[in-house]
Amino acid sequence: MIWNVMDALADDSNSGVGIYGMGGVGKSTLLADVERRIREEKSFDWVAKADVSENLDIKKIQGEIADALDLTDMKNKEYVSGRAELLHKRLKEESENKKVLIILDNLWKGLDLKSVGIPCGHDNKVIGCKLLLTSRNKRVLRREMRCDKAFRLDVLVEQEAKRLFETMVGGKVHVEFEPLVDEALRKSAGLPFLIRAMAKLFIDANLSELNDALNQIELSADGGISAMINKVLQLSYDHLESEEAKNLLKLCAAYGVSEPSVENLVRFVLRKLLVLMLTKQLMNDIYINLLKEKDTE
Ligand SMILES: Nc1ncnc2c1ncn2[C@@H]1O[C@H](COP(=O)(O)OP(=O)(O)OP(=O)(O)O)[C@@H](O)[C@H]1O
Ligand SMILES: [Mg+2]
Repeated sequence: MIWNVMDALADDSNSGVGIYGMGGVGKSTLLADVERRIREEKSFDWVAKADVSENLDIKKIQGEIADALDLTDMKNKEYVSGRAELLHKRLKEESENKKVLIILDNLWKGLDLKSVGIPCGHDNKVIGCKLLLTSRNKRVLRREMRCDKAFRLDVLVEQEAKRLFETMVGGKVHVEFEPLVDEALRKSAGLPFLIRAMAKLFIDANLSELNDALNQIELSADGGISAMINKVLQLSYDHLESEEAKNLLKLCAAYGVSEPSVENLVRFVLRKLLVLMLTKQLMNDIYINLLKEKDTE
């Protein structure tokens, strides 16, 4: 996949390239690999990266791009429109004789490039610079951001999943756990974040906890991945030691996460919660992904 993306970026007939796929499948990880290679190869003169995420903060996106371009004047501009003008001017100048790549991770909906200051046409298609984007949603990439190419990132195939699991556990699986590895991998459904979570359980949990975990994670025909994540979440919940922590988690779940302010609260509470968890990292990975999953529903 990385080579498809690299080739698409090298092809001058593409100005917008996108990667889409479900939450936790590895889009941001792939993006980081692509970015690293591009910087190594020096195939672009400027590379700027911003995390767009659910709280669409144009000012922050502008700031991240300006930093990457050493555009220090941006700090003197308070308003989004003035910042956009400055950024637009600079990007236009640069793209006349230099190659500029702007990477935007995690687009939840279309981003109006003009309001950020990224040169574009009336249809929101980037002009002059190149864009590399990720989203869970293909439509955002194709329809709203006018990407020329959109690559779907799928879950890991069996062998890849096994390799990742083995790397994560690093030979530390107790011999009595070994018969459970295949089941754990099957239930992780090729999702890297679940495989990592499972691997942590294999290292940290005891046999009865592990068995319990695997029994709870049943892939129901209609529930699919989301139902499974819920099960894993429940499992982590069962592992919570204090009543206070359980109540906090109930509160988080009851709120839902559609309001950004509530989401921030949830994230804050979650951070506190993590300290109390037996399966700390597991909970972190799963809960954050679950929150995002809920938001896209
Ligand atoms: N190929 C991989 N090898 C090892 N770990 C991976 C791989 N891909 C992803 N991961 C791990 O899985 C987790 C989720 O990956 P990542 O954040 O890249 O997913 P994502 O598709 O960007 O999710 P989201 O849509 O929620 O932003 C991370 O902890 C990451 O380190
Ligand atoms: Mg991501």
